[in-house]
Amino acid sequence: MILNQIIKVLFYFCGISGLLMFLPGNILLNINPRTFRHSLPKSLDQYKSVDNFKVVHFDEIGPLYGPESIAIDQHGRMVTGTSDGYLYEINTKDDSYRRLLKLVKRDDCAHSEHGVEFVCGRPLGLKFDSNGVLFVVEPSFGVFTVDDVFGENPQIKLVFRIEQTQTLPGGESRFIDDLAIEERPNRAPIIYMTDVSTRFNFNEFVMIIFGSEYGRVLRYDMETKNVDTIADGLFFPNGIEITANNEALLFVESASKNIWRYMLKGERNGTLEMIRSQLPSEPDNIRISQNGQTYLVALLKPRSLLLPNEFDYYIRKPLLRKLVARSAHLFGNVLHSLGTLIGNQYCTDLGYRLKTLQFMISTLFPSNGGMILEIDFNGNIVNSIYSTDSEDFGLMSEIHEVKSENVSQRVFYIGSFTKPYLRKVTMM
Ligand SMILES: *[C@@H]1O[C@H](CO)[C@@H](O)[C@H](O)[C@H]1NC(C)=O
Ligand SMILES: *[C@@H]1O[C@H](CO)[C@@H](O)[C@H](O)[C@H]1NC(C)=O
Repeated sequence: MILNQIIKVLFYFCGISGLLMFLPGNILLNINPRTFRHSLPKSLDQYKSVDNFKVVHFDEIGPLYGPESIAIDQHGRMVTGTSDGYLYEINTKDDSYRRLLKLVKRDDCAHSEHGVEFVCGRPLGLKFDSNGVLFVVEPSFGVFTVDDVFGENPQIKLVFRIEQTQTLPGGESRFIDDLAIEERPNRAPIIYMTDVSTRFNFNEFVMIIFGSEYGRVLRYDMETKNVDTIADGLFFPNGIEITANNEALLFVESASKNIWRYMLKGERNGTLEMIRSQLPSEPDNIRISQNGQTYLVALLKPRSLLLPNEFDYYIRKPLLRKLVARSAHLFGNVLHSLGTLIGNQYCTDLGYRLKTLQFMISTLFPSNGGMILEIDFNGNIVNSIYSTDSEDFGLMSEIHEVKSENVSQRVFYIGSFTKPYLRKVTMM
């Protein structure tokens, strides 16, 4: 009898899974994950553990929710952008902070609910040009500039609208992540942007990973207003930086764990090379260091072949990803609609977290452990600091080095996509 019941349950389970898997994409979520080969390093031997360094100071500056990126102007003034959509100034003398402004203004965004960032604004990549004009990526809108961001009368301009990507061969982008600025004498600059997906928005970033959606790197000439693609077929292009003397661009591909270089000068102008692969975890932002010659990359918790995590498991199983994504999307949609109908916030939020797969974030991206990787122009490892369990190095999105008063110490401000503070670490 029990066996009969089990067979029955299995039968229904298979039936439902079958339906979920094979119903066409116009009825259920249309995703077709690819088998995607990536390999972890055999061990972490080539990297240095945090135990080899001495942390002289460690401060948490906040509460600041999700200070993803950091920029410093020519006078050393620092700014970050958080998940409430605001930019904040950080005073590096005493590590106090003050709220500056919001780029995306909508009346219905006063009460920030779950999953509204893509309509209400969420500043990601930040860079100052040499005149102190701040460039900000708003993932669902494009690129804004803010003149006099610390002053009484800041001037905000949307200099690149995401709709301008409509004419590109792959279609309109839905999620811009980071930017680099190429300044030119007597001419308006060129902006380079990482374009994560043409299908899913910022709030659906887990869908992008589950569905192995590909992204691009875009170039926008602010003088001619022309936009084109310089790299595509990238699995979650993320941080991007221009190298010393505007010689090249370095950018990372998060999900497949690579670092690329695109030459802007010389004989190889216009060529794209992968300068680093098989990283031990997902790289996020990349920023030039204080010496002007090396580049600092923030990575999530490092793994090796011997110690993979759930992310590594899912990434090898496209059919399982499809099943999980479709089921969660379907039930999440039902729950979300129901919650909206009966006015239950808990139900609505849960539904949203399910249908966007946000409920998987903590499983896929453990909050402890991380790596600071320092590479040169050719991708050679110059330095590294990692921990597999420390919360202090968990969920880092950007490593921004500032000038140290003491030559034998280095000072880093560390951003995070989700943590409720900005970190400041002094190490020797
Ligand atoms: C590099 O190539 C681009 C076009 O692909 C061109 O506009 C630019 O002037 C070139 N730069 C140099 C330094 O040759
Ligand atoms: C500079 O840093 C070193 C190493 O941490 C330390 O021994 C030394 O006292 C510091 N010097 C000053 C002036 O703080």
